[in-house]
Amino acid sequence: MHTSDPADPVRHWPLAGLVVRTPRLELRPDDDVGLAALADRALDGVHPVDEMPFLEPWTDGADDPGFARGVMQYAWRCRADLRAHRWSVNFLVRSAGRVLGMQTLAATDFGVLGEVRTGSWLTRSAQGRGLGTEMRHAVVALAFDHLGARVASSSAFADNVASRRVSERLGYAPDGVEQHVRAAVRRCSCAAGSPRRRGAARGGPRRSTGWARAASCWAHTACSKRDTPDALTPSE
Ligand SMILES: CC(C)(COP(=O)(O)OP(=O)(O)OC[C@H]1O[C@@H](n2cnc3c(N)ncnc32)[C@H](O)[C@@H]1OP(=O)(O)O)[C@@H](O)C(=O)NCCC(=O)NCCS
Repeated sequence: MHTSDPADPVRHWPLAGLVVRTPRLELRPDDDVGLAALADRALDGVHPVDEMPFLEPWTDGADDPGFARGVMQYAWRCRADLRAHRWSVNFLVRSAGRVLGMQTLAATDFGVLGEVRTGSWLTRSAQGRGLGTEMRHAVVALAFDHLGARVASSSAFADNVASRRVSERLGYAPDGVEQHVRAAVRRCSCAAGSPRRRGAARGGPRRSTGWARAASCWAHTACSKRDTPDALTPSE
């Protein structure tokens, strides 16, 4: 909503006024106070230390003195780079006022392609309670119902059962696999690759090399508006 209050950033940054609410959660584009709280919580760990669910292994730096600042700087970069043809909005996910995680909604050439991508993480104590499903559903619903998206896509390593299960529950279908190389000590060389199209994952992902605990490959899933359930029953 437009306001002439000089202290209100919404005048120049309309995203500051966006709120998406679900039965248990509130999602707002990132703000500095919330980001700082989330960075603190990320220090407690996002996943087991011997796993790496992210394509960019940012959680590896949790022991570095600048880790929390890096979490904030990443979000600032996304804000600063926001353009009509390429945007990435990081929603802070709160429950009862407490920041629990981040849900990203992003797109490139959205006006032409009508496709959004998502990425998400929750602090460990918030995982496994259906919140990951609820928050992804919230931004996909925002994209389909209010932004005019036609397709939503997501990617996860093949052994990231929780993330892939969220996709399944929300009606996504396999849409191909990609191979990635991780530099230096930890390398994830994925054995299967294909262009992004439905059915391309035929035969399933194969085992990775180089990094024992790494998932095998980066599996794409996608859904269109008609595939996504109108409502989900929270799991608790
Ligand atoms: C991925 C993530 C956001 C999912 O959120 P979540 O709240 O934990 O997931 P939900 O509770 O909504 O569970 C979704 C489904 O996954 C299943 N699931 C959750 N955690 C699981 C686990 N560790 N192993 C197996 N299945 C799991 C749930 O049982 C549920 O399936 P169901 O509907 O059949 O019961 C969260 O686990 C997370 O932050 N993980 C670490 C970071 C990460 O992997 N991010 C994604 C990178 S691609």
